[in-house]
Amino acid sequence: MTAVHTVDAGRAVEDYGYRPAPPGVRANMIFSADGAAAFQGRAGPLSSPADQRLLLALRAYADVVLVGAGTARAESYGPVRLGPDHRDQRTELGLGVAPPPIAVVSQSGRLPESMFGPWPPPLLVTSTRGARQNRERRCDIITSGDDTVDIADAVAQLRARGMHRILCEGGPTLLDELVGADLIDELCVTLAPRLAGCQPLGRAVPTGIPSPAALRLAQVLIGPEDYLYLRYVRH
Ligand SMILES: NC(=O)c1ccc[n+]([C@@H]2O[C@H](COP(=O)([O-])OP(=O)(O)OC[C@H]3O[C@@H](n4cnc5c(N)ncnc54)[C@H](OP(=O)(O)O)[C@@H]3O)[C@@H](O)[C@H]2O)c1
Repeated sequence: MTAVHTVDAGRAVEDYGYRPAPPGVRANMIFSADGAAAFQGRAGPLSSPADQRLLLALRAYADVVLVGAGTARAESYGPVRLGPDHRDQRTELGLGVAPPPIAVVSQSGRLPESMFGPWPPPLLVTSTRGARQNRERRCDIITSGDDTVDIADAVAQLRARGMHRILCEGGPTLLDELVGADLIDELCVTLAPRLAGCQPLGRAVPTGIPSPAALRLAQVLIGPEDYLYLRYVRH
């Protein structure tokens, strides 16, 4: 039976079934009601304060945040910063006080300057060719695949480093790679009450899977401002 709840006043979305994170790949994405993943190149116009808070909470429950370089550039990613309540939740989960690192998948090594500062640099996940060709030398580099990143191997390498709870924040290109490699264990979808029209994103190449993979709807949450929060798990 799928649990259906309305988020009570004074409670946050993350208080309903999001912690602990599953030991695998959890993806968190927002879509408009008509299926757009961004508006004019940013996810922010689709989002809401409760959704933003959920995004930060899911980071607190993860060992690593995995993101495509397209998103890191479009959204000017910085390091993960947790507020006191999410820090407390992280500590209660036994994940320590330090926020999780961000691992950026990139062939070009073109990461936004906003990711660098007086904090540990992000992990750069790139291919052997990428590591040879790109000039990014500030990051701890994980090489995977010869010409392009082999995402299954990259995930295995993160796990081998003790990062078992992997939170993928997109974008659509990276999500497609994870779907193609059958690596998604849980998908948290925020459905925004917005019509955004056609917003082409990513590389627009048809995915390689032979048929859509089935998911089970684990939870439906009706949140503030008519947002829906859906949590799907693999069968
Ligand atoms: N709705 C949502 O929840 C959500 C979430 C995230 C992002 N977004 C939106 O989505 C857009 C960005 O998405 P996107 O699909 O264009 O980009 P993306 O998935 O974030 O990143 C794509 C980039 O990742 C690198 N990459 C991915 N797979 C690779 C592989 N196998 N080998 C080597 N490099 C690989 C490449 O980086 P290089 O180019 O550096 O080589 C590639 O250009 C933005 O508009 C953002 O706002 C929406």
